[in-house]
Amino acid sequence: MRKPVIAGNWKLFKTKNEALALIEELAPLVSGVSNVEIVVAPVFTVLPTLPAALAGTGISLAAQDVFWEEEGAFTGEVSPRMLLDAGASHVIIGHSERRQYFGETEETVNKKVKAALKGALVPIMCIGETLEAREAGDTFKVLERQLRGGLEGLTATQFAPVIIAYEPVWAIGTGKVASDDQAQEAHAFIRSVIAEMFGKPAAEKVRILYGGSVKPENAKGLMSRPDIDGALVGGASLKGSSFASIVRYGE
Ligand code: G3P
Repeated sequence: MRKPVIAGNWKLFKTKNEALALIEELAPLVSGVSNVEIVVAPVFTVLPTLPAALAGTGISLAAQDVFWEEEGAFTGEVSPRMLLDAGASHVIIGHSERRQYFGETEETVNKKVKAALKGALVPIMCIGETLEAREAGDTFKVLERQLRGGLEGLTATQFAPVIIAYEPVWAIGTGKVASDDQAQEAHAFIRSVIAEMFGKPAAEKVRILYGGSVKPENAKGLMSRPDIDGALVGGASLKGSSFASIVRYGE
């Protein structure tokens, strides 16, 4: 049995006080949930503010990106050790917004995944096709390329903690959620590629999250599909009530 993960990607929202207010609202709504891993990912500057507020809530902390070097002359970057120091246990890597606006490539995703694992952080590696790729019939090709590129050089043991998030780019922030069937089909394909790369036991264990306009209204259907092990939630994670409802559907 795979333990579902519901992660909130706060993107470029929430200052320290806003983040604390959100946790104050969210924590009581998800108290007692023990069979879902709950994760929130604020901006870097908010990370060190949250561990005290999250203590005892069962909610884990993620960063939204990481750099692959430990230290050095790399202005503007943050290393895995620094994220751990700030209280993070997870890190989102390769989000489509980073690929689209900040030049993230399979190669940089791969370096980041390796660095995160080495630094004892759990990578949440994002993959997903654009609308153009889907319409051209290239969805599986893109997903396979991103998986093989992002995870290149890892052994099955090294891969074990990795969480994959399938986020079709056309469904992010658009209100256009993938249908349960479309998402399930992509997730099953992703699991089959993981089986080829790392073996069947690894494929059966890996959590594959769906992301892209997840809301309380569509979470239940998505989560009931066999290969969907949770969600990476953007907009609906910015409110305690909607995020908590999604967490409850993960139970
Ligand atoms: O990482 C989560 C994400 O990209 C989905 O965003 O706002 O469509 O839920 P949203």
